[in-house]
Amino acid sequence: MNMKFFLDTADVEEIRRAVALGMCDGVTTNPSLIMKAGKDHKTVIQEISKVVDGPVSVEGIAETAEDMIKEAEEFSTWGPNVVIKIPMTKEGMKAVRALSQKGVKTNVTLVFSASQALLAAKAGATYVSPFVGRLDDISETGTDLISDIMDIYGNYDFSTEVIVASIRHPVHILESARAGAHIATVPAAVLEKLWHHPLTDNGIKTFKEHHEKHKNTMQ
Ligand code: G3P
Repeated sequence: MNMKFFLDTADVEEIRRAVALGMCDGVTTNPSLIMKAGKDHKTVIQEISKVVDGPVSVEGIAETAEDMIKEAEEFSTWGPNVVIKIPMTKEGMKAVRALSQKGVKTNVTLVFSASQALLAAKAGATYVSPFVGRLDDISETGTDLISDIMDIYGNYDFSTEVIVASIRHPVHILESARAGAHIATVPAAVLEKLWHHPLTDNGIKTFKEHHEKHKNTMQ
C-alpha cells in the first residue's frame, strides 16, 4: 500500500499545480472551500473532475438520509470520480449504508473519535475523515486518533480507508504516515512546506559553486 495525497481545496489552479508534480491522488472539498473558491458548486466540481483522475469528495448540507441520498444522486452526475461526503450522524450512516449497497462511494466526514470511525466502517463507508487540526484546537492530540483508528481497523477486514483531514502543518502528515494512514488530504500551502529544507538549497548552491570553480581551474 502507498500513502496517497489528496488536495484539500476547491482551487482548480492549486490542483493543477499539484497534479503536474505527481502529488495529487484525489481532492476533497467542503462547503467552506467551495465558498472560498467563489464559483458555482457544480461548475467547480466539474472543473476539478477534469483535472484530477482520482476521487473528488463533494459535500452537501442535507440532514436526513433521504435528502442525503437525493443530493448524492445529483452530485454523482457532476463527474465520474465523485465521492459523496456524508456527516457522521445516525441519518448519515443510514445514507452511507444505502449508498454503499448501490455502489456509490462515500466519505464520512466530521469524525472526531475512534468510536465514530468504527461506526462509519460498519456502515460500509469507502472513506472516513478524522479531523486532526480541529482536535488540536481543543487541546487534544489529533494524530493520536489516527493511530487509534488504524489499530482498530487493523484488527478486522474493513475496507474503509482513512483520510486524515484538517491538516495544518507537515508534522500532521508525518504522524499520519507513521500511523500508516491510507491518505492525507492536504491544503496546498502545507504540501508546499513538505518540499523545502535550507540544507538542500545550500547544498545545491555549494555544489554549483564548486563545479564552476573546478571548471575554471581546468581551463
Ligand atoms: O476537509 C475538511 C477539513 O480538512 C477541514 O479543515 O482546517 O477547516 O479544520 P479545517
